Amino acid sequence: MDNNNYGSHRPRKRVSRKTLRRRQLTALFIIALIVLLFVILVANACSKNSKSGDGSKKAAATTTVTKITTTTDPAITTTTTTTTTPADPVNKSDFKLDKQSVYISVGETDTPMVQAYPDGTTEADERWSSGDKSIATVDEYGHITGMKPGVCYITLRSAADPDQEVMIKVTVRGDDTTNGTLTPQSNTAEAPAPPVHDDTEGLTYIDGILVANKSYSLPADFDPGLETICYTQFQALTSAAAKENLNIWLGSGYRSYHDQEIIYANYVKEDGKELADTYSARPGYSEHQTGLVIDVNTIDDAFGATPEAAWLAEHAHEYGFIIRYPYGKEAYTGYKYEPWHIRYVGSEVATKMYKNNQCLEEYLKIKSEYKE
Ligand code: DAL
Ligand code: ZN
Repeated sequence: MDNNNYGSHRPRKRVSRKTLRRRQLTALFIIALIVLLFVILVANACSKNSKSGDGSKKAAATTTVTKITTTTDPAITTTTTTTTTPADPVNKSDFKLDKQSVYISVGETDTPMVQAYPDGTTEADERWSSGDKSIATVDEYGHITGMKPGVCYITLRSAADPDQEVMIKVTVRGDDTTNGTLTPQSNTAEAPAPPVHDDTEGLTYIDGILVANKSYSLPADFDPGLETICYTQFQALTSAAAKENLNIWLGSGYRSYHDQEIIYANYVKEDGKELADTYSARPGYSEHQTGLVIDVNTIDDAFGATPEAAWLAEHAHEYGFIIRYPYGKEAYTGYKYEPWHIRYVGSEVATKMYKNNQCLEEYLKIKSEYKE
């Protein structure tokens, strides 16, 4: 074959070994550079993917995290520990509430109002439950009570259509009763009289005691929340009971005028006005609105037969509380026996009443009767 067939090709140059070696090194360097760039690009992409994967997993699991928050609320002066959930639930039901979140203190009660129900369901189908009863409890009427600082969700579900459910975020804030600035008192000499709201019109104090019964009402806008001293002394009481293996807990504390309006209306609907008046106060007449009352444990006649009720009857006065509606005193108090309802009056008054076996109406020589 004639080499001239390849006439279009340039004749080969002679290359020295040294030049060849240099070219090989340059090529190797360029390849290494390209590989390195590729590796960097791939690593970058992987790290982005893995970060977003983690995040979505955490969000999907709505893991509860604990963080330290400092609030600007003037009622809270110290740093508090709050438990939060990363993602709030999306409510897709046909329930319409006046609020999707509740912000309360320990012992305080708030009630979201149901403004509209899913089609074919009614008030009777409401089913309330708490995601964490140690943080907030809820009763059958949707009264949410703060138990300890933290965040949890209360669910309202329709019994007629369980797919219809709405969640309410409840934040129970820490306050100066829980951060140790107030030490629970533990004996009779140290349980002081409750505070006096002498700047509020329409309250009745007799011998320094705020009275709320069927004869003496409270203004609708009187809204003290659960009084600190009441809650602090209640903590002392429950701690003392716990030492005797007795479990006493806060079932229901402060109730606003509006809360009582709903409760009383429900009882009237169930039992009629005459019967309801024997066990439930009309709005403006409930002692719960004074912020000095706690219903302990279960609001049930059976509570009266428990060792906790017996201990409470014997020791409540040492912590400044009285059994407000004692057995056999219905004619004075206007209400049937409530072994669970304790009222803070301070240990001096409570001890006198205990020793003399008197209820508040006897002690103050007052009546408890509605005008109509
Ligand atoms: N059960 C008491 C009387 C109240 O409703 O305040
Ligand atoms: Zn009560």
